[in-house]
Amino acid sequence: MNESIPLQLQRADLLCRQNFIAGQWCDSAAGGQLAVSNPATDTVFAQVANSDQQDALAAVDAAQAALPRWRAQTARARSQLLKQWHRLILANSEDLATLMSLEQGKPLAEARAEVAYGASYVEWFAEEAVRARGDILPALAPGKLQMVVKEPIGVVAAITPWNFPLAMIARKLAPALAAGCTVIAKPAEDTPLTALALVKLAEEAGFPAGTINIVSASRESTATVVDCWLRDGRVRKITFTGSTPVGKHLARESADTLKKLSLELGGNAPFIVFADADLDAAVSGLMAAKFRNGGQTCVCPNRVYVHSDVMAAFTEKLQAQVEQLSVGPATHPAATIGPMINRRAIDKIQRHVDNAVAQGARLVAGGQPLRNAIADGPFYFAPTILADVTTAMEVCHEETFGPLVPLFRFHSESDVIEQANATPFGLAAYFYTQDPSRIWRVSSALQAGVIGINEGAVASEAAPFGGAKESGYGREGSHYGLDDYQNIKYLCQGNLG
Ligand code: SIN
Repeated sequence: MNESIPLQLQRADLLCRQNFIAGQWCDSAAGGQLAVSNPATDTVFAQVANSDQQDALAAVDAAQAALPRWRAQTARARSQLLKQWHRLILANSEDLATLMSLEQGKPLAEARAEVAYGASYVEWFAEEAVRARGDILPALAPGKLQMVVKEPIGVVAAITPWNFPLAMIARKLAPALAAGCTVIAKPAEDTPLTALALVKLAEEAGFPAGTINIVSASRESTATVVDCWLRDGRVRKITFTGSTPVGKHLARESADTLKKLSLELGGNAPFIVFADADLDAAVSGLMAAKFRNGGQTCVCPNRVYVHSDVMAAFTEKLQAQVEQLSVGPATHPAATIGPMINRRAIDKIQRHVDNAVAQGARLVAGGQPLRNAIADGPFYFAPTILADVTTAMEVCHEETFGPLVPLFRFHSESDVIEQANATPFGLAAYFYTQDPSRIWRVSSALQAGVIGINEGAVASEAAPFGGAKESGYGREGSHYGLDDYQNIKYLCQGNLG
């Protein structure tokens, strides 16, 4: 079943197959292997370590041992190492993008953009490291000095998803390291290679042994590794991006050791087009937000609400844009959408389409898997538009995670706000309007952590990323992003005379 893929890495040593623990690249203790497939062809092209409890524990031991030295480093020293890591990521951008495209499937241009996006968090937190200020409080009693200092929380476990194999791990590791924490990481089983290469570059940057540790594990072994970290009181924080059910499991199971948690979980983002919107801007915002990574993004619009008066015009403009999309493998120069990650992803999109059509939705474009001379593999899905979608349909309640745009019709602002908020999730929400008074009203009313106002591309290292309701808690990026990796300590000095 092995496929000979011309990897074309400029640096073959960036294809790392082992765990990295205590500064050493090593096989898993039990010698297990995990196969990595290319979703464009569904064929295996690499094997990495399949870790178990022994590896998970060894990673915690290493991170705990490295912690006193790392937290004692000056903020400037930590910042300089992060800057060196940032330089190396950019210098090896092409290889990182190649690995990412091979294991995740996104077009090379998108993979390159993700490398730059992930690197921007490393640079940002290199800069934030030296600004992790505390406070001196105004004395409320004579002879007293009251101070607040921020301290690293300790060993951090980072559990990362397959959809952004580089950016998600970068935006967890960079603030943790900047704050003076040591890290144990487990990348998604589908996409370990990009994360391992990123850690290889961190090793080259000169982070001390044990500061960053990474183990890969299969879907089945992941539970063993993560349960071990959940039980271990030395692990003081879990940072996770992934599904809401897994996030709830982590929250429940870390209760015994009261770990701090950052949970960036599922979304069901509404995208609202008011009658006064600039329709061309709204269509291009929707295209950018919806079809990024083929729709496999937590902040992707999942429900598109269009005012009845502009529904026909909007649908026509959208269809024209969707027909321009080009589905194909990462390496095809024209591809704008790659394969979905696996069979389960294809089945879910198809289930949403079939369920909606069976209940009266109308297919405007796509609607089925795609296979042709360019998109020649089992996991391609045609970019799809469904019209006349209603709240009774599954697509209204579940995140599709694929290139499907369901169009809902609405008649009034209050009605659409109610519908937009009628979900347990609250990661992102978008709306388009040219009415300034509506902008503040709707921004305030929408229950989400991230709001795009006449804008589809919202993510940035300078901004706080995270959700409300069952989309989780904690923030990544921005100056708030460091807080999640720090404890606040209050010092009260008395008898000062
Ligand atoms: C995600 O989908 O989990 C992250 C998307 C982003 O960073 O914009």
